[in-house]
Amino acid sequence: MLLEQLKTRRSIRKYEHKEVEKEKIDIILKSALLAPSSMSRKPLQFIAVTDAELLQKLSLCREPGPRYLADAPLAIIVIADNTASDVWVEDASIAATFMQLTAHDLGLGSCWIQVRKRFRTEQETAEQYIKELMEIPEQYSVQCILSIGYPGEEKKPYEEGALKYEKLHFNKF
Ligand SMILES: Cc1cc2nc3c(=O)[nH]c(=O)nc-3n(C[C@H](O)[C@H](O)[C@H](O)COP(=O)(O)O)c2cc1C
Repeated sequence: MLLEQLKTRRSIRKYEHKEVEKEKIDIILKSALLAPSSMSRKPLQFIAVTDAELLQKLSLCREPGPRYLADAPLAIIVIADNTASDVWVEDASIAATFMQLTAHDLGLGSCWIQVRKRFRTEQETAEQYIKELMEIPEQYSVQCILSIGYPGEEKKPYEEGALKYEKLHFNKF
């Protein structure tokens, strides 16, 4: 049941030294292509990174940075053609979430690394650094990077009893 999967999904920032199989990478990427988008404009593209040197360089995209990315076997960069949709942020968020849930379903752990609106230095955004490093064309914006791998840490599942039910409203606020 999906709700059970949602309870056990946690952000995983430590990974086993083990490759993610190509078949699993393909399934995760396919899930991104299945995500809905506003007016079905599908402004997103995805860059899967398995090259250790690139992963190391990507881990320096922010300060303080996601250093765990350097030890991950896989990263997926989510980018959007910002001229194709005015709500690409929402589209990108949904696709990233689909990929995180699919990774979890495949026994993998993942973590969202925020790129949009984040800085590497006072002068340089995380996005500028990543676009130059990855040779991403000008009209694309970088939303986030997902680090993915076999979990090297255990985290407790969420408990239904601890959910903030007071945030739920019916009919009126
Ligand atoms: C929009 C968004 C941005 C996030 N940015 C980062 C980030 O830059 N670095 C990081 O380590 N985790 C990041 N996370 C992961 C959150 O810290 C994590 O989801 C939250 O602490 C709840 O933990 P859980 O995912 O285990 O439920 C982000 C999550 C979301 C949804």
